[in-house]
Amino acid sequence: MSEDYEGLEGVIAARTVLSDVDGAAGRLIIRGFALDALVGNVGFEETLGLLWAGFFDNLPAALQPPLGAARAEVFDEVRALDSTLIARTPMEAMRALTARLADGDDLPTALRLVAAPAVFTAAVIRARAGLAPVAPSPSAGHAADILRMSRGSSPSPAQAAALDAYLVSVCDHGLNASTFAARVVASTRPGLTSAVLAGIGALKGPLHGGAPGPVIDMLDAIGRPGNARSWIEAALERGDRLPGFGHRIYRVRDPRADVLKRTVRLLGDGSHELPGRLAFAEAVERAALDILKSRKPDRSLQTNVEFYTALLLEALGFPPAAFTCVFAMGRVAGWIAHAREQVATGRMVRPQSVYVGPEPRAAA
Ligand code: ACO
Repeated sequence: MSEDYEGLEGVIAARTVLSDVDGAAGRLIIRGFALDALVGNVGFEETLGLLWAGFFDNLPAALQPPLGAARAEVFDEVRALDSTLIARTPMEAMRALTARLADGDDLPTALRLVAAPAVFTAAVIRARAGLAPVAPSPSAGHAADILRMSRGSSPSPAQAAALDAYLVSVCDHGLNASTFAARVVASTRPGLTSAVLAGIGALKGPLHGGAPGPVIDMLDAIGRPGNARSWIEAALERGDRLPGFGHRIYRVRDPRADVLKRTVRLLGDGSHELPGRLAFAEAVERAALDILKSRKPDRSLQTNVEFYTALLLEALGFPPAAFTCVFAMGRVAGWIAHAREQVATGRMVRPQSVYVGPEPRAAA
């Protein structure tokens, strides 16, 4: 097998009605809607209904009430958050609590799995700050309740809307690594919890959903716009990759980057610090794009979703260590839809490998 196949580039491994990523045009379609048409117009719970339509029997028209009830249900598991888990990364602690949920293929299991990263991450964030967990408010919107459970006080409508917009922006994205992992696991039919845990595991890596925390580290290390070029040149000289740039599929700008940048800008209206932070990040982005272009003229390395995710989640008060968990809160919607779609094909995923080891020999 040629090395070109190591990352399965160009291999079509699923037929999906869920989303389409056009890397050349910089376009993301989710169930027939361009991302721009969804974000800001359709809330997270409605998007969940859109993604899951046809994949569950008797899907209610409004998913906010059952999702609120599911948050209250999974909150019981927060009791298992002990000092060992609190000392781990938020993603590891959230994954461990999610693993306590029973496997199943029905809608209540699916809703508990959407509730899990939200409720568990909020509790983990508070526990790491020495604070007691805050119970869910089942009647609240999902995004507003995530912020309330994390902070202990209700967010402003603008903050809730910004998080809601983020969750919708990242709810699904073709056959990305975590979604593929979820589909592979789902295909052996262990149940949705196992598929979601596979997704969480893949998302955690710094090449996938683990990038936005390092974006903040990079911005903090650069400190001021004047340092951007020398810092970036030195990082690339060391062979580092710049978090928030590059993508396997997009050869133009990731459409989610602009949607999220707009959301940060809206959130910044009336704020003293955010416009300055945004202007600084834009200066770093310009320097990075310029340097990447001159160093890699043959490879179009553009801003990806993680760059402005970092700014948005920082502005909403999430600690960088928990950014990937917030990503999981949105992407879990897509993992579940893909898991159901994969099971519906009736086929287990089982590719082949080419053996390049030694010829058969006698055992010593
Ligand atoms: N900074 C510097 N150089 C880069 C970057 C980057 N962010 N991304 C790619 N390159 C370089 C590679 O080192 C490689 O150089 P080489 O040919 O000299 O070895 C060349 O560009 C091509 O890179 P590939 O590895 O082929 O790109 P691939 O498609 O495999 O990688 C990935 C995509 C993993 C996202 C990569 O761009 C990366 O590591 N980015 C930084 C981490 C990041 O932001 N991840 C989030 C992605 S979005 C998401 O998953 C939600």
